[in-house]
Amino acid sequence: MGGKVIGLLGSPLPEGNTAILLDRALQGAADAGCETEKIVVPFLDFEPCMEIFFCRDHETCQMEDEMTPLYPKIRDLDGLIVASPVMTMGIPGKLKSLMDRCQVFFMAKYMRREALVPKEKRKARNGLYIGISGMNLPTVFDGAKMTVAAFFDVIDCRYWGELLIRDMDTIRDIRTRPDLLEAAYRKGKELGASVQAGLR
Ligand SMILES: Cc1cc2nc3c(=O)[nH]c(=O)nc-3n(C[C@H](O)[C@H](O)[C@H](O)COP(=O)(O)O)c2cc1C
Repeated sequence: MGGKVIGLLGSPLPEGNTAILLDRALQGAADAGCETEKIVVPFLDFEPCMEIFFCRDHETCQMEDEMTPLYPKIRDLDGLIVASPVMTMGIPGKLKSLMDRCQVFFMAKYMRREALVPKEKRKARNGLYIGISGMNLPTVFDGAKMTVAAFFDVIDCRYWGELLIRDMDTIRDIRTRPDLLEAAYRKGKELGASVQAGLR
Protein backbone atom coordinates (compact mmCIF):
# COMPACT_ATOMS: atom_id res chain seq x y z
CA MET A 1 0.00 0.00 0.00
CA GLY A 2 1.02 3.63 -0.38
CA GLY A 3 1.73 5.73 -3.44
CA LYS A 4 0.70 9.29 -4.08
CA VAL A 5 -1.81 10.28 -6.75
CA ILE A 6 -2.22 13.97 -7.55
CA GLY A 7 -5.22 15.36 -9.41
CA LEU A 8 -4.82 18.61 -11.33
CA LEU A 9 -8.14 20.37 -11.95
CA GLY A 10 -8.06 22.63 -15.01
CA SER A 11 -11.59 23.97 -14.58
CA PRO A 12 -12.16 27.17 -12.57
CA LEU A 13 -15.39 25.69 -11.16
CA PRO A 14 -14.59 23.73 -7.98
CA GLU A 15 -18.12 22.26 -8.00
CA GLY A 16 -18.39 21.88 -11.80
CA ASN A 17 -18.66 18.81 -13.97
CA THR A 18 -14.91 18.30 -14.37
CA ALA A 19 -14.41 18.68 -10.62
CA ILE A 20 -17.09 16.06 -9.92
CA LEU A 21 -15.39 13.61 -12.30
CA LEU A 22 -11.98 14.29 -10.77
CA ASP A 23 -13.34 13.75 -7.26
CA ARG A 24 -14.77 10.38 -8.34
CA ALA A 25 -11.48 9.34 -9.91
CA LEU A 26 -9.51 10.41 -6.82
CA GLN A 27 -11.94 8.46 -4.64
CA GLY A 28 -11.22 5.41 -6.81
CA ALA A 29 -7.47 5.89 -6.40
CA ALA A 30 -7.93 6.28 -2.63
CA ASP A 31 -10.00 3.09 -2.51
CA ALA A 32 -7.13 1.34 -4.31
CA GLY A 33 -4.91 2.34 -1.38
CA CYS A 34 -3.26 5.55 -2.62
CA GLU A 35 -2.82 8.85 -0.85
CA THR A 36 -4.50 11.56 -2.95
CA GLU A 37 -4.32 15.32 -3.32
CA LYS A 38 -6.38 17.66 -5.50
CA ILE A 39 -4.85 20.86 -6.84
CA VAL A 40 -7.25 23.46 -8.24
CA VAL A 41 -4.93 25.05 -10.77
CA PRO A 42 -6.86 28.21 -11.81
CA PHE A 43 -6.68 29.59 -8.25
CA LEU A 44 -2.92 29.21 -7.91
CA ASP A 45 -0.91 32.41 -7.97
CA PHE A 46 1.83 32.02 -10.57
CA GLU A 47 2.96 33.59 -13.82
CA PRO A 48 3.48 31.87 -17.18
CA CYS A 49 6.96 30.73 -18.19
CA MET A 50 8.97 33.89 -18.97
CA GLU A 51 11.78 32.03 -20.77
CA ILE A 52 14.47 33.12 -18.31
CA PHE A 53 16.06 29.69 -18.90
CA PHE A 54 17.53 29.57 -15.41
CA CYS A 55 16.45 25.90 -15.55
CA ARG A 56 18.92 25.25 -18.36
CA ASP A 57 21.61 24.98 -15.68
CA HIS A 58 19.65 24.52 -12.45
CA GLU A 59 17.17 22.05 -11.04
CA THR A 60 14.76 24.84 -10.14
CA CYS A 61 12.89 27.74 -11.68
CA GLN A 62 14.08 31.23 -10.81
CA MET A 63 10.52 32.52 -10.59
CA GLU A 64 9.30 32.19 -7.00
CA ASP A 65 5.56 31.82 -6.72
CA GLU A 66 2.97 29.13 -6.07
CA MET A 67 4.66 26.86 -8.63
CA THR A 68 7.68 26.61 -6.32
CA PRO A 69 6.17 24.05 -3.87
CA LEU A 70 4.61 22.16 -6.77
CA TYR A 71 7.91 21.08 -8.34
CA PRO A 72 8.83 18.57 -5.61
CA LYS A 73 5.23 17.35 -5.55
CA ILE A 74 5.31 16.69 -9.30
CA ARG A 75 8.75 15.05 -8.99
CA ASP A 76 7.63 12.72 -6.20
CA LEU A 77 4.13 11.66 -7.32
CA ASP A 78 3.40 8.09 -8.38
CA GLY A 79 0.20 8.72 -10.34
CA LEU A 80 -1.24 11.84 -11.94
CA ILE A 81 -4.74 12.72 -13.08
CA VAL A 82 -5.18 15.73 -15.33
CA ALA A 83 -8.88 16.63 -15.41
CA SER A 84 -9.85 19.50 -17.63
CA PRO A 85 -12.54 20.96 -19.87
CA VAL A 86 -11.57 21.78 -23.44
CA MET A 87 -11.25 25.53 -23.87
CA THR A 88 -10.72 27.07 -27.30
CA MET A 89 -10.00 23.56 -28.59
CA GLY A 90 -7.18 22.99 -26.11
CA ILE A 91 -6.07 23.07 -22.49
CA PRO A 92 -7.28 26.09 -20.41
CA GLY A 93 -4.64 28.80 -20.03
CA LYS A 94 -3.71 28.41 -16.37
CA LEU A 95 -3.28 24.65 -16.60
CA LYS A 96 -1.29 25.10 -19.81
CA SER A 97 0.94 27.60 -17.97
CA LEU A 98 1.55 25.03 -15.23
CA MET A 99 2.61 22.57 -17.92
CA ASP A 100 4.88 25.19 -19.55
CA ARG A 101 6.48 25.96 -16.19
CA CYS A 102 7.52 22.29 -16.08
CA GLN A 103 10.24 23.28 -18.56
CA VAL A 104 12.36 22.68 -15.45
CA PHE A 105 11.78 18.95 -16.03
CA PHE A 106 12.27 19.25 -19.81
CA MET A 107 15.69 20.90 -19.47
CA ALA A 108 16.87 18.34 -16.93
CA LYS A 109 15.63 15.37 -18.96
CA TYR A 110 16.43 16.36 -22.54
CA MET A 111 19.18 19.00 -22.30
CA ARG A 112 21.30 17.99 -19.31
CA ARG A 113 20.28 14.31 -19.46
CA GLU A 114 19.81 14.29 -15.69
CA ALA A 115 16.08 13.68 -15.26
CA LEU A 116 14.73 15.07 -12.01
CA VAL A 117 12.49 12.05 -11.47
CA PRO A 118 14.54 9.25 -9.88
CA LYS A 119 15.21 6.27 -12.16
CA GLU A 120 13.29 3.72 -10.06
CA LYS A 121 10.21 5.98 -10.10
CA ARG A 122 10.38 6.74 -13.83
CA LYS A 123 9.20 3.35 -15.05
CA ALA A 124 6.22 3.20 -12.72
CA ARG A 125 4.59 6.65 -12.99
CA ASN A 126 1.20 6.56 -14.68
CA GLY A 127 -0.93 9.43 -15.93
CA LEU A 128 -4.67 9.58 -16.60
CA TYR A 129 -6.29 12.30 -18.69
CA ILE A 130 -9.95 13.09 -18.01
CA GLY A 131 -11.26 15.51 -20.61
CA ILE A 132 -14.70 16.98 -21.16
CA SER A 133 -15.90 19.13 -24.02
CA GLY A 134 -19.00 21.17 -24.74
CA MET A 135 -19.12 20.17 -28.40
CA ASN A 136 -19.66 16.74 -29.87
CA LEU A 137 -16.92 16.74 -32.51
CA PRO A 138 -14.69 13.72 -33.23
CA THR A 139 -11.57 15.94 -33.20
CA VAL A 140 -12.45 18.06 -30.17
CA PHE A 141 -9.78 16.49 -27.92
CA ASP A 142 -6.97 16.33 -30.50
CA GLY A 143 -5.16 19.50 -29.39
CA ALA A 144 -5.62 18.89 -25.66
CA LYS A 145 -4.45 15.27 -25.96
CA MET A 146 -1.23 16.26 -27.70
CA THR A 147 -0.51 18.78 -24.95
CA VAL A 148 -1.28 16.33 -22.13
CA ALA A 149 0.84 13.61 -23.79
CA ALA A 150 3.78 16.03 -24.14
CA PHE A 151 3.39 17.12 -20.51
CA PHE A 152 3.30 13.52 -19.28
CA ASP A 153 6.44 12.77 -21.28
CA VAL A 154 8.29 15.78 -19.87
CA ILE A 155 7.52 14.80 -16.27
CA ASP A 156 8.15 11.09 -16.91
CA CYS A 157 4.59 9.83 -16.63
CA ARG A 158 3.35 7.13 -18.98
CA TYR A 159 0.15 8.14 -20.83
CA TRP A 160 -1.63 5.32 -19.03
CA GLY A 161 -5.24 6.06 -19.89
CA GLU A 162 -7.96 8.53 -20.73
CA LEU A 163 -11.63 9.21 -20.20
CA LEU A 164 -12.97 11.62 -22.81
CA ILE A 165 -16.53 12.89 -22.49
CA ARG A 166 -17.97 14.90 -25.36
CA ASP A 167 -21.21 16.84 -25.71
CA MET A 168 -21.39 18.38 -22.24
CA ASP A 169 -23.45 21.25 -23.69
CA THR A 170 -26.21 18.67 -24.16
CA ILE A 171 -25.57 16.62 -21.01
CA ARG A 172 -25.20 19.82 -18.91
CA ASP A 173 -25.13 18.17 -15.46
CA ILE A 174 -22.80 15.18 -15.16
CA ARG A 175 -24.73 13.99 -12.09
CA THR A 176 -27.56 12.95 -14.45
CA ARG A 177 -25.13 10.37 -15.90
CA PRO A 178 -24.25 7.82 -13.22
CA ASP A 179 -22.58 5.69 -15.93
CA LEU A 180 -20.00 8.45 -16.52
CA LEU A 181 -19.46 9.01 -12.79
CA GLU A 182 -18.90 5.28 -12.42
CA ALA A 183 -16.48 5.30 -15.39
CA ALA A 184 -14.43 8.03 -13.67
CA TYR A 185 -14.39 6.13 -10.37
CA ARG A 186 -13.34 2.92 -12.16
CA LYS A 187 -10.54 4.64 -14.10
CA GLY A 188 -9.25 6.20 -10.89
CA LYS A 189 -9.34 2.87 -9.11
CA GLU A 190 -7.51 1.14 -11.96
CA LEU A 191 -4.92 3.91 -11.98
CA GLY A 192 -4.50 3.50 -8.23
CA ALA A 193 -4.11 -0.26 -8.64
CA SER A 194 -1.48 0.28 -11.35
CA VAL A 195 0.39 2.61 -9.01
CA GLN A 196 0.28 -0.02 -6.27
CA ALA A 197 1.57 -2.67 -8.70
CA GLY A 198 4.43 -0.38 -9.79
CA LEU A 199 5.54 0.10 -6.19
CA ARG A 200 5.76 -3.62 -5.51
C1 LIG B 1 -13.71 29.85 -22.31
C2 LIG B 1 -14.32 28.56 -22.76
C3 LIG B 1 -13.93 28.01 -23.96
C4 LIG B 1 -14.49 26.79 -24.38
N1 LIG B 1 -14.07 26.26 -25.56
C5 LIG B 1 -14.58 25.08 -25.97
C6 LIG B 1 -14.14 24.49 -27.19
O1 LIG B 1 -13.30 25.03 -27.90
N2 LIG B 1 -14.66 23.30 -27.55
C7 LIG B 1 -15.60 22.65 -26.79
O2 LIG B 1 -16.04 21.57 -27.15
N3 LIG B 1 -16.03 23.19 -25.62
C8 LIG B 1 -15.55 24.38 -25.20
N4 LIG B 1 -15.98 24.92 -24.01
C9 LIG B 1 -17.01 24.22 -23.23
C10 LIG B 1 -16.46 23.45 -22.03
O3 LIG B 1 -15.48 22.50 -22.43
C11 LIG B 1 -17.63 22.73 -21.34
O4 LIG B 1 -18.62 23.66 -21.00
C12 LIG B 1 -17.22 21.96 -20.11
O5 LIG B 1 -18.30 21.15 -19.72
C13 LIG B 1 -16.86 22.87 -18.93
O6 LIG B 1 -16.51 22.06 -17.82
P1 LIG B 1 -16.60 22.62 -16.31
O7 LIG B 1 -18.01 23.10 -16.11
O8 LIG B 1 -16.25 21.50 -15.44
O9 LIG B 1 -15.58 23.74 -16.21
C14 LIG B 1 -15.46 26.14 -23.59
C15 LIG B 1 -15.84 26.72 -22.35
C16 LIG B 1 -15.28 27.90 -21.95
C17 LIG B 1 -15.71 28.51 -20.62
